Formats: sequence, structure tokens, C-alpha cells
Amino acid sequence: MDSLPHGGVLVNRVCSMEEKDEWFKRVESLPCVTISKRTLSDLECIATGVFSPLKGFMNKEDYISVRDRMRLADGTIWSLPITLPVEKDAASDIWEGDRVALKGEDHRVYAVMEVESLYQVSLEQEAKAVFQTVDPKHPGVARLLKTSPVYAGGPIHLLHLPDHGIFSKDWFQPSQTREIFQNRGWKKVVGFQTRNPVHRAHEYIQKSALETVDGLFLNPLVGETKKDDIPAEVRLESYRTILHHYYPKERVFFGVYPAAMRYAGPREAVFHALVRKNYGCTHFIVGRDHAGVGDYYGTYDAQSIFSQFREEELGITPLFFEHSFYCRRCDGMASFKTCPHSGENHVTLSGTKVREMLKQGITPPPEFSRPEVVEVLIRGLQQKEWKN
Ligand code: ADX
Repeated sequence: MDSLPHGGVLVNRVCSMEEKDEWFKRVESLPCVTISKRTLSDLECIATGVFSPLKGFMNKEDYISVRDRMRLADGTIWSLPITLPVEKDAASDIWEGDRVALKGEDHRVYAVMEVESLYQVSLEQEAKAVFQTVDPKHPGVARLLKTSPVYAGGPIHLLHLPDHGIFSKDWFQPSQTREIFQNRGWKKVVGFQTRNPVHRAHEYIQKSALETVDGLFLNPLVGETKKDDIPAEVRLESYRTILHHYYPKERVFFGVYPAAMRYAGPREAVFHALVRKNYGCTHFIVGRDHAGVGDYYGTYDAQSIFSQFREEELGITPLFFEHSFYCRRCDGMASFKTCPHSGENHVTLSGTKVREMLKQGITPPPEFSRPEVVEVLIRGLQQKEWKN
């Protein structure tokens, strides 16, 4: 498996100094669309090639094709719509063929978009296709149903990258991670997505994968997540801690993934794999209920979806892992594939239960979470509570 970006070329839509100067002369006269923090994170992912081959927000043709058949209009595999919702008021000032300034909530102009299409969608239809449900209790559906059903699509030109604050040190563009992996001599690199602290099960599947490849790219998502997930700023320190105590430095590279969580289960697993391909990974870990929430998806749906695509087309090899846990009889980490003992020997805790325990300052057992990690999380959550 080569490590070409998806679509063959790493997209770069970040303007040069000269281009920027040119745009700034014209930006004042352009109609303006205000974008949410979450859309801003998609914008930077498009501009820096994380979402290659996308060069902008999806036009109508690509949107419909992705929604209905998980492919861009030209046939390239792509599983999630990347769209720019425009409020009705703003939409009435825009026409196809226009250029619009994309302004953040901080009133800063981040990009210019060439409006290829301006189109009305059915949010219910999108929810059904992407999330397999229209239940407003699903966090992805709830968010989608609140957005405007008018989307604008077209290529973008990025004028500024957003400020990454405390994540700046661990933020890398795909062009940089690709170079880093190459300099380290890594031919096979496995990517790991997470929106949680690294627990023993994560560590187990990462290290099992690492046994057969050259390097691990630990790439936690730090974009928008649902309210009850552990905030990324609290998780950051926990990643540093576990890497320091339990991982070989020369075999792991740590960098954040700035996009928002969708909670789209199977479709998001494919999307997460393509994104990591763009960062230069050759392999990608998909465990139990990847990107899932509640009981909306079957435990292994996010694995079986990959059988709809040929591996050459995906261009990244998914590595599937069974539900893993600590088994007291085995005296180590295991999965249903490797452990013959019954459930009462297994240490398993739901994400919700762990979050509750941590918030109350209760330490989950060391068979579930490394004590060093727990300490950092409890402290981080308490400080956050105290600040709020
Ligand atoms: S996710 O929403 O980012 O997928 P999470 O951070 O919990 O959630 O999971 C990161 C990765 O680890 C996913 O591929 C997930 O399937 C896998 N995973 C999480 N817990 C387990 C487990 N106990 N056993 C096997 N795989 C797991």
C-alpha cells in the first residue's frame, strides 16, 4: 500500500503572501458569510489537505453523491458531507458565481470562497443517510437539524489559519507529518483516532498494531465534541503523561486532529481512515463501535462498512480490533478473540460510567486506566469545574 494522499495530490489552499494581499484589497467589497467554530475547523482541514481531495465546501453534485452513495461525483470514495450552511438572510445576498468572504465568530475574515452552487437540502434526508437515524436525541442529528438547510459550495482560498491555542505545539499539517514519518524511516504507519483519554483497551490495540508496523500516529480529535465528552484541553495532558510513561518515544508520533466529532459511526470510521491516509498513515485502527454514540450502531458496523470498498480504492488498510478488556484470569489485556473466560473476569466500564467516576474524583481501577492518567484527568476536570 503506498501512502499517496486521497485522490493522489495533497491539497493546499493556503494563500501565499502575494495572493493574500490581492484578496485583502477586494475582501471589503465581498458579501460576507459568518461561519461557526466547527465550520472553521472544516475550513482549515480543507485548506491544509487533511480533507484532500476536497478543495472547498461541497457543491450540490458532490453533496448528493456523497449523501447517497458515499462517493464524490467523480467516483472517489468519500463518506461524509463537508458543507457550508448559510443562514437564510445571508443567502439572499449571494448568487452562484459570486465570491464571498468567510468570517469567523471573532469577525476575522479567514477565507474567500468561489460560490459554485447555492442549494437547499433536506436535513432529515441527510440525517437518515449519514447517521442512519432522524432521532433528535442523537448528538449529530440534533446539531444537524439546528443548521440552515441552505448550503453554499465551491473552492476556498484560506487567508489565515485559526489560532490553535494550547494545541499549537501539537498541531501539524499533513505535509509536515508526511515528512516526519519519512525522516523517521517509517514505511508502515498506523493512525489512531480518539475523542477520549487513552485507556488500557486503547493502549492494548495500539500496541498490538504497533507490533506489525513501524510507527504509531496518535491523533486525538480536539475539535468540537458533545458536552459530556471529556474536554480536549483536559485530555491533552493525559496523552502527554501516558506517552511519557508507557510508550517508546521513537515509535510514536503525537499530533492533534482539529476537526469536529460527528458521531456518525460507520460512515465516520471511513472518513477518519481517509483523513489519516492524508496525514501519511498506511494503516488505521477501527475497534469496537468506532465514532459511535449510545446504541445507534452495532458494535462492529464501523468495521463491516469497509467491505463496501476495495482496499486499493481506499488506499489505507483498516486494522480491525475486537472489544478488548482486562481479564483477571488471563492476568492481562485480551479480547473475545483471545480470552476463553466468562464476563465476570473482565474489567469493562462504559465511557459514561468512567466520565462520572472521574468527575466525582473516583479512581477507575488500574486494569481499566493507567493511574498516572487518572490522576491528570481528575485534576484537570476539577480545575475546569472550579474555573466554570
Ligand atoms: S471514537 O469515537 O473516537 O471512536 P474512542 O476514543 O472511544 O471513540 O475510540 C477510539 C478507538 O478505539 C476507536 O477505533 C474505537 O473503536 C476503539 N476502542 C475504544 N474502546 C475499545 C475497546 N474496549 N475495545 C476495542 N476497541 C476499542
